[in-house]
Amino acid sequence: MSAVRDVDVVVVGAGPAGLLVSHLLRRQGLDVVVLERRSRAHVEARVRAGLLENGTVEVLRKAGLAGRLDADALVHDGLELRVDGVAHRLPFRELTGQPVFVYGQQLVVRDLLAAADADGADVRFEAADVQLSGLTSPAPVVRASTPQGPVAFRCRAVAGCDGYHGVARRSVPEGVFRTFTREHPYSWFGALAHTPPVSEELVYTISERGFALLSMRSPSVSRVYLQVPRGTRPQDVSDERLWGELQQRLGEEAPLTPGPVLERVLVDLRSVVVEPMQHGRLLLAGDAAHIVPPSAAKGLNMAVEDAEALAEALVADLRDGEPEALETYSRRRLPGVWQAQAFSDATTTLFHTPAGPDPDAAALADRLRRAALQRVLDSPTAARDFAEHYVGLARR
Ligand code: FAD
Ligand code: DHB
Repeated sequence: MSAVRDVDVVVVGAGPAGLLVSHLLRRQGLDVVVLERRSRAHVEARVRAGLLENGTVEVLRKAGLAGRLDADALVHDGLELRVDGVAHRLPFRELTGQPVFVYGQQLVVRDLLAAADADGADVRFEAADVQLSGLTSPAPVVRASTPQGPVAFRCRAVAGCDGYHGVARRSVPEGVFRTFTREHPYSWFGALAHTPPVSEELVYTISERGFALLSMRSPSVSRVYLQVPRGTRPQDVSDERLWGELQQRLGEEAPLTPGPVLERVLVDLRSVVVEPMQHGRLLLAGDAAHIVPPSAAKGLNMAVEDAEALAEALVADLRDGEPEALETYSRRRLPGVWQAQAFSDATTTLFHTPAGPDPDAAALADRLRRAALQRVLDSPTAARDFAEHYVGLARR
C-alpha cells in the first residue's frame, strides 16, 4: 500500500479539458495532480480536432497559453458549402464579426504540457487502473498504478476529464446520471495527408455520394474526412479510394493533388449528454460529459469552455470558500452543451447522405435536408443563424 497524499484536486485525464483545468487551478495556487492512462508521447501525437472558435482562443490567450497559437494558427473568415459540385461561400466573419482558427488539437495539448513543465505541474502518465472512492464525502480518494508504483491521493474534488471511454463517469452508482444518446448511422474516415489544401477555407461537401470535409493543418498539410458506412475499418479505405471519392464528391472544378497519407482514423458519429455533469465531489468536463458528432467541430471547443467554468467554480469553492458556483456548475453548463448538441445534430443531418434500411424513408430524409440546406443558401437570416452557431456565438 502506498501512503495517501493530500492534494486539492485530482484531475483524471490529460486531454485538453484536464490539462486546462489543472493549468487554471495551479495558476490560482491550488495543489493539483493529473492522472493520465496513456503515455506522454501518445497524448502529444494524437491527431484529432482542428477548428477553434474565437471564444476558445480567447480563453487560451487569457490563460497565457496562446503564444504559439497566435503565431501559427490559420485565421478563417468564411467557409465553403459545396453542394453537388457548386460552391457557396458562407462569410461567417462578415455575418457575426468573429473568425475561427485552424490549429491542431495536439498542438493545443503540447502547449498545455509545455506550460505544465514550466511550472513543475504533477502529471502522471501511464496511470493504470484509476479508482475513485468516497465521491459523496468531503474527501474522495483516488488510487492508481503508475510505472513508479501505486499512488493514492486524498482530495477535495475530482475533475473527471477522461473522455468518453473514461472511468470517472462509470464510478458513479447506476441511476445517478441520465445519459441521452444517439448513434448516427454513418462514420467518418479521416486522413492527414502531405498535400496542400484544395482551398484556403474549409470545404463542406454535400453530394449524392456522401459528405466530405476538406480541412487543413498548414499550407502543406491537408486534413480530409469522408462519410463512410458504419462498420468501415481504416484499412478498408485505400489511398486510391480516398482521393477518388474526395474528387467525385468535390466535383471536377476543384482538382485535388493526392499526397502521402500520414495518418488514418475512423470516427463513429454519436451524440451523448450526461446529466447532471456532477455527483458529490466529482465534476465532469469535456467528452467525459458529452460527445457531439464532429460535423460542426464543437467537441474541443466545449471541452475548453467546460474547463474554464469548472476551474473558476473550483477556485471559488476551494480557495475562497464560496460553494455556490461549484454546486451550480452543471446547471450553468447544460444550456450551452445542448445548444452545441442541437447544432451538431442539425449539421449532421444537413451534411450527410441519409443511410438506413428503408430506401423510401432515406429518399424523404434526403429531400428534407436539401430543403433545409437551401434555406441556408438563400436566406440571409438562415445564413446568419448558421454562422452564429458555427462560430460559437449562439452559446456565449
Ligand atoms: P480527450 O481528448 O478524449 O481526453 C481524455 C483523456 O483522458 C485522454 O488523454 C485519455 O487517454 C484519458 N483517459 C481515458 N480514460 C482514462 C482513465 N481511465 N484514466 C486516466 N486517463 C484516462 N472538436 C472540435 O472542437 N473541433 C474539431 O475540429 C473536432 N474534430 C474532431 C475530429 C476527430 C477525428 C475526432 C475524433 C474528434 C474531433 N473533435 C473536434 C472532438 C475533440 O477532439 C474532443 O471533443 C476533445 O478531444 C475532448 O477533449 P477532452 O479533454 O474532453 O477528452
Ligand atoms: C476539422 C474537423 C471538423 O470536424 C470540422 O467540422 C472542421 C475541421 C478539422 O479536423 O480540421
